Amino acid sequence: MSVVSSIVNKPLLNVLNGHREKIPPVWMMRQAGRYLPEYRATREKAGSFLNLCFNPQLAAEVTLQPIRRFNFDGAILFSDILVIPYALGRTVDFVVGEGPKLEPITEPRSIQEIRREIDHGKLDPVYETIRLVKPQLPEHVTFLGFCGAPWTVATYMIAGHGTPDQAPARLFAYRHPDAFDQLIDILVKASAEYLIRQLKAGVDAVQIFDTWAGVLPPEEFARWSIAPTRRIVLAIREAIPDAKIIGFPRGAGASLAHYASEVPVNAVGLDWMIDKTFARDRVQKLKPVQGNLDPLVLIAGGRALDESVDAVMRAFSDGPFIFNLGHGITPETPIANVEQMLRRVRG
Ligand code: CP3
Repeated sequence: MSVVSSIVNKPLLNVLNGHREKIPPVWMMRQAGRYLPEYRATREKAGSFLNLCFNPQLAAEVTLQPIRRFNFDGAILFSDILVIPYALGRTVDFVVGEGPKLEPITEPRSIQEIRREIDHGKLDPVYETIRLVKPQLPEHVTFLGFCGAPWTVATYMIAGHGTPDQAPARLFAYRHPDAFDQLIDILVKASAEYLIRQLKAGVDAVQIFDTWAGVLPPEEFARWSIAPTRRIVLAIREAIPDAKIIGFPRGAGASLAHYASEVPVNAVGLDWMIDKTFARDRVQKLKPVQGNLDPLVLIAGGRALDESVDAVMRAFSDGPFIFNLGHGITPETPIANVEQMLRRVRG
């Protein structure tokens, strides 16, 4: 399988196999989203955000929209990291203008009420979306699945909503480390099973989003981000030895070098805050990297955008590299700026 995947004509997959591409493959985190009028129209048709995630026809449609418009090298499955708490029996809702709302976890004993096994029946529409998208992708496009890392998913499960610094989850983990360990264990098992099923349904690679890694001190980062993500990667490889996996611990800072050496992912996602020389010398020396244009410079456009694209290219394009943003694209981004970015990257 590894022989075949290293010769197929998919530049992004080639980079995940450790090769350098002359023109780096490019995609954007959150590329299916509200900055696209065609996304907003499909989203309207679906009614709620979760209806969109769980309607395979519509989810497949929005997965393909950015590929049709921009011919990206990667297509990311349309879903959300919070379908895992939902499949574990928690209530999950997305309130327009406010973001996700879950039933919060305030007591250690609430952890006992959480299912130990995910209900794959609830996630069947996600696997069906993958089967619908797969045959519609151009040959050069790498299909990416994803999940949230246990720490990041836990922050939403504990607080019940987004917070600027994830204080509720950090406090819970300090006060009730054993109960928090149990929650992380449940999420490790659920996430590994979920990603294995995505890979078996047809995605070429998966990304593990640890969006809130950066709020943890180094010791807690090792315990709640590095160790659980490592367990997920090893569990996937036990089932699918050749599985391609990207890890994205946003905000890890200097701990990124530790993450890159301890977590056996195929590539590491870089956020826009990381020092590029550090990332090249301490991370890209070990494995391919992906990133890391500031999503805000993509809103600004103009000369600032060209200069930032050039700086990212200068830093990373001598080694195995996937061009991306340093976090998700935001709804206010002009489409013309995405086109400008692509022209600059692809020449
Ligand atoms: O295009 C893609 O990248 C694929 C789809 C995708 C979504 N969410 C769709 C979405 C992916 C990969 C995610 C990941 C995700 N979801 C993360 C990790 C990456 C990141 O961006 O930090 C997190 C933390 C979430 C949880 C989440 N989902 C939040 C906090 C919100 C509300 C904030 C917001 O941007 O509105 C969502 C909603 C969400 N997920 C939207 C989309 C397109 C917007 C909702 C809508 O369309 O109504």
